[in-house]
Amino acid sequence: MDIYGSYRPVIEGIMNKLAALIESSGHRESGEKLYEHLIYRIKDDESMREKLKAGGFAENEYNALREMTDAIGLRVVCLFIDDVYECVELIRALPGCSVINEKDYIQNAKPNGYRSYHMILDVTSEAPDVEGNVPGHFFAEVQLRTIAMDTWAALEHEMRYKKDISNQKMIEQELRRCANDLAACDVSMQTLRKIIRAQ
Ligand code: GTP
Ligand code: MG
Repeated sequence: MDIYGSYRPVIEGIMNKLAALIESSGHRESGEKLYEHLIYRIKDDESMREKLKAGGFAENEYNALREMTDAIGLRVVCLFIDDVYECVELIRALPGCSVINEKDYIQNAKPNGYRSYHMILDVTSEAPDVEGNVPGHFFAEVQLRTIAMDTWAALEHEMRYKKDISNQKMIEQELRRCANDLAACDVSMQTLRKIIRAQ
């Protein structure tokens, strides 16, 4: 049985609507895109079940949609740090959405070096939710980052599943160093763009 049960088409619809809203408003007046690319997904059945289990929750659609906040996930990947913050404001202003939690892991990187801006949205939908509310309320997680941050996250994600590795300390230090180097590049690139734009 699908963990989202009969709600799967509802959450897919909400996700597609959010993506379309971001796509239609993610431009500057000049037509230039505020972000480089946008991806989105419904958390797959298996990962949602694993996350529920790990959190000590029964595997059902209520817990998947009310206890977890990332069944619907969108990722906005930008060229420059300033663009990330512009996109944060764009998301904040989306109709039918309110921000119920946000974490700035760009200003406050995680100890491992992870950087991103995370927002949890409460999205209103005509469809009833798992509590029977009409309009319904559904959570969506939005991650916003630069291409450099995205690169690091993808590489770190690829490596984190290898267990029982030796040199763990050294690898962690190096991962953090790479994240810091990439962050320094982001700041330099941002500065260069400012200099060029000022001419
Ligand atoms: P989960 O980590 O999903 O259990 O939720 P949380 O409440 O701890 O939220 P958090 O903001 O820490 O992370 C949410 C999501 O951000 C994760 O599911 C990942 O997609 C991403 N993320 C957070 N930390 C890391 C990290 O250290 N490395 C990578 N690659 N991704 C991360
Ligand atoms: Mg986490």
